[in-house]
Amino acid sequence: MKTLVVIGSTGSIGRQTLEVVKAQECLLVIGISCGHNIELVTQQVDIHRPRFVASLRKDPSLQVCFPRTRFFWGSKGIEELLDAARPDLVMISVPGVAGLRYSLIATEVSGRICLANKETLVCGGRVFLDAVQKNGVELIPVDSEHSAVFQLLEGDVKPREIFITASGGAVRDLKKAELQEITAAQVLKHPVWSMGEKVTIDSATMVNKGLEVIEAHYLFGLPQERILTFMCRNSVIHGGVIYEDGTVKLHAGVPDMKIPISYSLNHPERRPMDTEFDLTSESLLLEDIDEDKYPALSLAREITGHHARQIAYNAADEISVEAFLAGRIRFVRIFGIISSTIQRIDLDAPTSYNEIMEIDRTARIIAEEEVLRCSSL
Ligand SMILES: NC(=O)c1ccc[n+]([C@@H]2O[C@H](COP(=O)([O-])OP(=O)(O)OC[C@H]3O[C@@H](n4cnc5c(N)ncnc54)[C@H](OP(=O)(O)O)[C@@H]3O)[C@@H](O)[C@H]2O)c1
Repeated sequence: MKTLVVIGSTGSIGRQTLEVVKAQECLLVIGISCGHNIELVTQQVDIHRPRFVASLRKDPSLQVCFPRTRFFWGSKGIEELLDAARPDLVMISVPGVAGLRYSLIATEVSGRICLANKETLVCGGRVFLDAVQKNGVELIPVDSEHSAVFQLLEGDVKPREIFITASGGAVRDLKKAELQEITAAQVLKHPVWSMGEKVTIDSATMVNKGLEVIEAHYLFGLPQERILTFMCRNSVIHGGVIYEDGTVKLHAGVPDMKIPISYSLNHPERRPMDTEFDLTSESLLLEDIDEDKYPALSLAREITGHHARQIAYNAADEISVEAFLAGRIRFVRIFGIISSTIQRIDLDAPTSYNEIMEIDRTARIIAEEEVLRCSSL
């Protein structure tokens, strides 16, 4: 049986990955990693009995409970786990630029990367793709929209355009003026998906769709103007491809992340899933996205392909979402902080991981200054 390591096993994607593997008995989980949720990782070790476990938070009592498992601590520990486990597949399901380091190591120690962490492509750009190519690793997207396009493109001719959809997040029915006083609790109530906090806020600002346009640019080798975005309120249509002859192929299905997760783990096979899609009861409606209400999407389009600015876009978003969740800034300030940070960054494209992280650090310092400036507004 092929082996799997799940980086970020205690998160939304990580938990669902372990559920899929348990239900399908398709892979052997030999390694898992968590951040700080020791209680959940303890349960997961008890169920899956992985040989290797890494945790950002050091808790030596785990080693006492599970003497046959080898534990690693801290972010270096996750790198050591990957190196020790050398699995057939790695699921990268941590949020933020932190995922890039693990993805890069995965290119050296594994045969397939199932990539949920879109920031790997946004911040890693060509540096990551070169590592994928050099090491001959399979790269399978987990984001439902990219999984959809990936599946539609398989074995087919190049499309004229592709598209990915957005649900519009928690604020989609509010007017721009009504966003001024919106709270984190309101923004975290996603109408369709149950996801981690960062991606749920990103969904409401459309930064998530901005990151996904950039992700699609690197995954499918298309310029941003050929990557269209539409609103699909029930998230039933995930993506599509449009051909020169006007033919449009849609990818539709139940909005359930276990489906693209299962696809990424089993590709090119498809395993039965416990989901029914009733074609007659679901609306298949796409709407234009109001880019005036969601300026972060247009901004992402402007910077697609400009590697240093992509890193700054992501770093400023991570800083401002954290500040919003901590009650330091208002929701409507997130876009301004990202935009000002990008304007203040004027750096050449990085050629290595260290250069990427240097730009990330610089952008975070600038974004923090912008947060301070905005906190009283
Ligand atoms: N959730 C979705 O439906 C969905 C869909 C498409 C794409 N994605 C993408 O998938 C990624 C993960 O999203 P998520 O919603 O699953 O996130 P999440 O629920 O917040 O889970 C994050 C996981 O990563 C761990 N973690 C956090 N920071 C870390 C760090 N610096 N180093 C190592 N581990 C760390 C967490 O550990 P602890 O909890 O133990 O602290 C947890 O296991 C994101 O890039 C997101 O955009 C998510």
